Amino acid sequence: MKLFQGPILAIESSCDETSCAIVSGRQVLSNVVSSQAELHRKWGGVVPEAAARAHVQAIVPVIDQALSDARLELSQIEGVAATNRPGLIGALSVGLTAAKAIAFERRLPFIGIHHLEGHMCAVLAQSEPVSFPFVGLIVSGGHTELVEVASFGDYSLLGQTLDDAAGEAFDKGARSLGLGYPGGLAVQVAASTGDSGRYHLPRGLRGETANFSFSGLKTAVARLVEAEGDRLSVPDAAASLQEAIVSVLVDRALLAATSHGCGNLALVGGVAANLALRERLAAGCHREGLRLLLPPIDLCTDNAAMIGLAASVRLARGERDGWDLDAYANAPLPGR
Ligand code: KG4
Ligand code: ZN
Repeated sequence: MKLFQGPILAIESSCDETSCAIVSGRQVLSNVVSSQAELHRKWGGVVPEAAARAHVQAIVPVIDQALSDARLELSQIEGVAATNRPGLIGALSVGLTAAKAIAFERRLPFIGIHHLEGHMCAVLAQSEPVSFPFVGLIVSGGHTELVEVASFGDYSLLGQTLDDAAGEAFDKGARSLGLGYPGGLAVQVAASTGDSGRYHLPRGLRGETANFSFSGLKTAVARLVEAEGDRLSVPDAAASLQEAIVSVLVDRALLAATSHGCGNLALVGGVAANLALRERLAAGCHREGLRLLLPPIDLCTDNAAMIGLAASVRLARGERDGWDLDAYANAPLPGR
């Protein structure tokens, strides 16, 4: 696969992380992530207006730090990229405008990247060569999708969540259990000392499907907390919640890969940082004779390195976006 060799400056600001990375080919030279988690914790979720303002404050220092970590000057950058869809419009606009300004001033090649394509391209940073086609399980705070990837840029949707995303199930479950925000990592930590067989929680849709449903799980956790009161074991409930999410994700991903005769499976998105999910999917792939593509943990949750890697693929193909490129709240993954 041809990749853009000159250093690319990439920006990600679609939600509550302000991030800038410098990427060259498949090499990540720096990746600075400034999280707003502390700011949004008091509201128990991301407040869009507050997120946009925090991006305004963080964006230039984060870009500065990414250049300095990569030991490069702005004048040495040869391409510029930013996430332009999907995401919070105010938040996206900050990163997109900063990227445009840098590219415009130096007349550099510029490209907007789909956030989920970014997540998918994080597999380029792992040591194994990437072989196509692969089935990608994208699991984040806003998305849960199974996608067949013929090549980067050529995606077919196999299935998706009909209601909540897997990350949302972690976050809302964590909230019911009093584990705070953001919930995924907190549930993982609490679950490490818990018994996953203690409470039975629903698995959503039955039968052979590539779709998911997590809204019943959210309700069941809230009911469990109410019913158990002071008797509730938070570690056991966290372990049971994690098990309910992980078992469904692993089963559906393995089924999608085997039923499509696809020998490669990729696990990407913020929830791909979950250790139980990584281990269980690795064991399942080993059993089924599938190759698993697993990005490093720090490239699973939102970051600009993954956006730079996607830009590395697209800029190498000669693709460019104009100065009028807009930001979009919703957008399907690009097709062929
Ligand atoms: O991809 P991401 O960083 O942001 C979005 O694009 O949404 O994903 C964030 C989601 C959150 O729901 C967060 O709770 C979840 O990923 N997450 C985890 C873990 N780390 C982050 N879920 C389970 N276990 C983790 N270790
Ligand atoms: Zn994401």
